[in-house]
Amino acid sequence: MKIISDVNELKTYLKTQNETRGFVPTMGALHDGHLSLIKEAKKACDFVVVSIFVNPTQFLAGEDLDKYPSRNDADIKICALAGVDVVFLPQKHNIYGHDEVSLKAPNVRGFVLEGATRPGHFDGVLTVVNKLFNIVNPDYAYFGKKDAQQLNLIALMVKQLFLDVKIVAVDTVRESDGLALSSRNIYLSKEERKEALKISLSLYEASKMLQKKIYDAKEIKVEMSKILEPLEIGYIEILNRDFEMIEQVEIGNTIILVEALVGTTRLLDNIWL
Ligand code: PAJ
Repeated sequence: MKIISDVNELKTYLKTQNETRGFVPTMGALHDGHLSLIKEAKKACDFVVVSIFVNPTQFLAGEDLDKYPSRNDADIKICALAGVDVVFLPQKHNIYGHDEVSLKAPNVRGFVLEGATRPGHFDGVLTVVNKLFNIVNPDYAYFGKKDAQQLNLIALMVKQLFLDVKIVAVDTVRESDGLALSSRNIYLSKEERKEALKISLSLYEASKMLQKKIYDAKEIKVEMSKILEPLEIGYIEILNRDFEMIEQVEIGNTIILVEALVGTTRLLDNIWL
């Protein structure tokens, strides 16, 4: 496995490889969620690149950029064991210059949910993912359904910028008790870890209501907010796969998304129905 930080060195190296190329962009502190993306890439592609870069432009002032977990040595071992071919491990100066051209998330889909609570976040995500795609030039790129809005906006960017990469969506990996894996889970105290379970429980409650043929979005949201109490709810939204609000759940075309604050940690989760 090669570890490369320099953009030109990586591009030159990749020119010598003409196998099907899979790409998994990450911000490191790798867990089994990331690993399942890498495994999917290994299944479909002969050559797999993982990037580890805590992208500063997607963090807002006052967010956890400075304390975002960094575990490069452990991450490199995980990648080697998983059979990754190249780890791209750039520094900020390898990716960004002083006076930057950047992408803007679209108004309608980019300014709801995460876009509303974290204005500018998706501009940073799209800008860095576009740069990474241009550097790695993958055939397939793997993203988690856990970050559903990110996945949706990246797919939209690929379509609208006519990029030659196929986006593959991978199911959310959870702990055995239901908590969705996240690099931010390590911030949770024991008590908070218990409270955090209310997020996946609220989604489980929604799926139980659907089994009882209750499809009304308002009714489902009320029951979910009861379960989430006393957590501070960022949003509970019931959307179709185009990220438009819907009043009735349409099985096969719905995502229910939750964002809640547990202690000082913002956690996201969702189910695709
Ligand atoms: P990061 O949070 O490190 O996540 C990297 C990828 O892992 C994303 O596609 C995310 O959706 C996926 N992922 C995270 N937790 C998961 C879980 N429990 N199950 C399945 N997949 C999971 O998302 C980012 O980094 C950044 O925004 C990035 C796309 C790298 C751009 O900087």
